[in-house]
Amino acid sequence: MSDRGLSAGGPLLAVVVPTRDERANIVPLYERLRATLGDIDWEIVFVDDDSSDGTPQAVRDIARRDRRVRLLWRVGRRGLSSACAEGIQASTAPFVAVIDADLQHDETLLPRMLAALQNEPVDVVVGSRYAEGGGIGDWDAGRARLSALAIRLSGRLLKARLSDPMSGFFMLRREAFEGAMRGLSMIGFKILLDILASSPKPLRTKEIPFRFGTRQQGESKFDTLIGWEFLTLLLDKTVGHIVPVRFVLFAAVGAVGIVAHLLMLWLFLDLFGMGFLASQTAATLLAMVGNFALNNWLTYRDMRLTGWRWFGGLLSFILVCSVGAAANLSIAGFLFGAQHSTWWLAGLAGAAMSLVWNYTVTAMVTWRRSPKT
Ligand code: GDD
Ligand code: MN
Repeated sequence: MSDRGLSAGGPLLAVVVPTRDERANIVPLYERLRATLGDIDWEIVFVDDDSSDGTPQAVRDIARRDRRVRLLWRVGRRGLSSACAEGIQASTAPFVAVIDADLQHDETLLPRMLAALQNEPVDVVVGSRYAEGGGIGDWDAGRARLSALAIRLSGRLLKARLSDPMSGFFMLRREAFEGAMRGLSMIGFKILLDILASSPKPLRTKEIPFRFGTRQQGESKFDTLIGWEFLTLLLDKTVGHIVPVRFVLFAAVGAVGIVAHLLMLWLFLDLFGMGFLASQTAATLLAMVGNFALNNWLTYRDMRLTGWRWFGGLLSFILVCSVGAAANLSIAGFLFGAQHSTWWLAGLAGAAMSLVWNYTVTAMVTWRRSPKT
């Protein structure tokens, strides 16, 4: 502990490290951070989403020897963005950095990032893979293309010009984060983009190039659906203040369901020659199962039900949607019969009614927040 800072108050710099199954990287990262931060008054906040490989225990072992290391252990929640946000909120340090646990980010830049924030009129310093002198390491062409596309899309959203708004490696002033905090979407992987887009006033940025390293231990949690999450984030940033983005997704899945339903109905009736009632029942059930699976996979990706809970969720989804269908019929029937509305208006009102019902109730019953995910 010879490198303990001199200030008597809280630390100057908090380094937030999101972790999920990173046990083998914890000690090396800690050693590297300690070496590079030297006599800066720092703390490290590991935010772990209940890893099963012993990551929280590895952090705790260090924290018992070094009080500058802390663990925020989240249970029943997932998501890189929200983990970073909560790590920042758990600290009061005036300067905060976010860095991956897997040693792919060049931690030796941290002192330079801090100096920039202290001496220059900037709010955020970004470790950039795309600035002159940076690099994306050993990424395959597919991921490199995806990344370039994401940068082009997000350029439209941002008030700041950045070569790498997707970076997961950056440092910022606490006030900059607090200004953006309440507007954060916290969807997916892109916390920096989220902060930049949510800030009420444009943030002043500076980029420092670095080469994205190669992961030595553990596995990347990046998968193809992160692209999907990214689009959800953009959607939330553009229309999220009007309607919740989950509702938009739920409605879109519902629309796909209607098309699938009609297709199956036609299939059963015309091709298999089944009776209408049997065909309609089968098509309805299959469409519900499909809708549940899609919603579970996309709309509620961050709270996905798996294993037996998947079947429990399916059951509750079918029950709720059946009530929704009954509501649909009675509203439409009432409007068409008693109110003499046009057929399509009555139909639309019924469908809208069941959409709102299905969305609201499944959010409370099927995908309610539960500590057991
Ligand atoms: N707490 C928590 N919860 N941590 C997570 C989660 C999660 O759900 N998912 C990933 N992490 C942690 C990992 O343990 C790692 O420390 C870090 O977040 C980055 O995850 P990786 O799985 O290594 O991501 P990557 O290397 O593919 O992606 C990196 O590059 C992207 C640029 O395209 C990250 O830096 C991203 O933030 C960045 O956007
Ligand atoms: Mn990584």
